[in-house]
Amino acid sequence: MRHHLLLTLFAAVSLIQCSSRQEEKKADTSPMTITKEAFGATGAGESVDLYTLSNTKGMQVKISTYGGIVVSMMTPDKAGKTSDVVLGFDSLAGYLKEHPYFGAIIGRYGNRIGKGQFTLDGTVYKLAVNNGPNALHGGLKGFDKVVWRAKEMSTSDGVRLDLVYTSKDGEEGYPGTLTTTVSYTLLNERNELKIDYEAVTDKPTVVNLTNHSYFNLAGQGEGNILNHSVTIFGSRFTPVDAGLIPTGELKQVEGTPFDFRTAHVIGERIEAKDGQIAAGKGYDHNWVLDKPVGDMGLAARVTEPTSGRVMEVYTTEPGLQFYTGNFLDGTLTGKGGKVYGHRAAFCMETQHYPDSPNQPSFPSTRLGPAERYRSTTSYRFLTAQ
Ligand code: BGC
Repeated sequence: MRHHLLLTLFAAVSLIQCSSRQEEKKADTSPMTITKEAFGATGAGESVDLYTLSNTKGMQVKISTYGGIVVSMMTPDKAGKTSDVVLGFDSLAGYLKEHPYFGAIIGRYGNRIGKGQFTLDGTVYKLAVNNGPNALHGGLKGFDKVVWRAKEMSTSDGVRLDLVYTSKDGEEGYPGTLTTTVSYTLLNERNELKIDYEAVTDKPTVVNLTNHSYFNLAGQGEGNILNHSVTIFGSRFTPVDAGLIPTGELKQVEGTPFDFRTAHVIGERIEAKDGQIAAGKGYDHNWVLDKPVGDMGLAARVTEPTSGRVMEVYTTEPGLQFYTGNFLDGTLTGKGGKVYGHRAAFCMETQHYPDSPNQPSFPSTRLGPAERYRSTTSYRFLTAQ
């Protein structure tokens, strides 16, 4: 009870202007902080900031206003030692060059749209084709390559960074002026990064937002992720063609290398003789989550045995793209000079299913002018012995 009262007081003092005595108390007990530093400038001369969010449980996250990129994520291991668990670069220059969406906000449409086109209310919209014959992750200059307007704040839950970007009608081929807000909150009571996405449009359009962090729970650059153990709370997945476009089928995972309903080590079946594994060159597929669509629920859990780090992914989204870094090949050198080899990381991209605008039976990604797009995903970090 007393503990509860103290916590309430603690939350209250961090919110309101208080007496000097309380200020002293806040200084002692509230090291959760959000700070800003210059990160450089884009080729077009736009200045970019880097925000550092820290909580009281040992977690620290750095986020760039360029691409809303999560640049680093420090989390404790079972011995309390913190390491950075996401791939990326030490400086903005690395992110300005070509890279596979490390840490970035993806929009307007995360994942692929077949042949880079879709029809909405009888009009055909043509997008840039940037992945074989298909459109991937929002186009040539998607939300990962724009500078977001930022506003930082402290809330009763933790420290929060709101990023806002207005995409013009017709940008990258998509209809409607779309204003998107992505709020990153580092919770204070537990090691969790919560991402709230909101968007409004002035014309009917399609939206599918996600974050493209590449995780290695042993620490970024510490070898491959084949020893990580994964559980995915989805009984079906969306099989794909050779270009990774869903066939439309929702296939049961039972009896396939895609059955992660109980924990399996990633490396166990990643080279299985299976047409779908061959299409993805490993895992690069969308799981249909079992929880009710729109409800926040557990999508996946990943455990790394040496560090004892555990990551849980919660989302309101109906799908999860589990990608095992099959296209990483040692050509990129990242933070601290680490070379990112084959399968050096995995992604857990919460989303609506790929190619939904062309698949009437999939949950809809349409957003109308009277509606508000809302989606929440949390990455929660724990440890196990
Ligand atoms: C896709 C992969 C792609 C990666 C980087 C993932 O979301 O599913 O096929 O290589 O993003 O672009």
